[in-house]
Amino acid sequence: MDGNGRWAQERNLRRHKGHIEGCETVKKIVNSAHNKEIAYLTLFAFSSENWKRPGFEVRFLMQLLERYLVDYGEELHQKNICLKTIGQIEAFPRAVQKNLKILKEKTQNNTGLILTFALNFGGRQEIFNAVKKLIKGIGLSQKFEDELNSKDFESFLESSYLPDMDLMIRTSGEQRLSNFLLWKMAYTELYFSPKYWPDFSENDFIEAIHWYQTRQRKFGGLDLKSTNPSPTKL
Ligand code: FPP
Repeated sequence: MDGNGRWAQERNLRRHKGHIEGCETVKKIVNSAHNKEIAYLTLFAFSSENWKRPGFEVRFLMQLLERYLVDYGEELHQKNICLKTIGQIEAFPRAVQKNLKILKEKTQNNTGLILTFALNFGGRQEIFNAVKKLIKGIGLSQKFEDELNSKDFESFLESSYLPDMDLMIRTSGEQRLSNFLLWKMAYTELYFSPKYWPDFSENDFIEAIHWYQTRQRKFGGLDLKSTNPSPTKL
């Protein structure tokens, strides 16, 4: 959800106004994903590197998240949305942690959209933590080396309940992964929108999904429908 700051600066507004407007976009896109019966939506709301920002901006983002949870928690529940988080939320203020806990518990049995907020999340850290948990749980042994497969490893990831990511949308014209869900993104289709996140509309979201639907996903194999499978002489 990139470009809140630039959206504000281009309007001679302070950066936090961009985050407020960005929060409005969150509401619209969550709503749209719910209406379109999308199974999973994961929003990168605060990266493990975002602590490098000035303290007042970090505090403002936390407050905004808290307000969102208080004001929209019930609506999410009514829409049968299940809220989850990935990332080290222990570093967040107690009030935010409390509100997240309440809402996650309340919505845990909901069967609609699985909405994940990535908070204080980093893809590399997630993989590294999984390695540590795995070593702690199984220990490094010959058995470990012989029998462990990548599915076992995945079960140690915090995001293990998520399937591989189909589509990643990044706004604001930047074309980077920025330490998002690295393990889940091995075959993700990448969509870069030039629009700043506050300007990203429901139509833009649907356009991105339509673009995704035109992609041929081969996962390293061949699309046998459009390829002559018989070997050709060199
Ligand atoms: C990146 O844009 C955006 C963020 C670090 C914060 C995202 C937060 C929200 C959209 C609002 C709150 C979220 C929830 C889940 C309720 P940037 O500020 O780095 O933009 P810039 O690159 O233009 O400076």
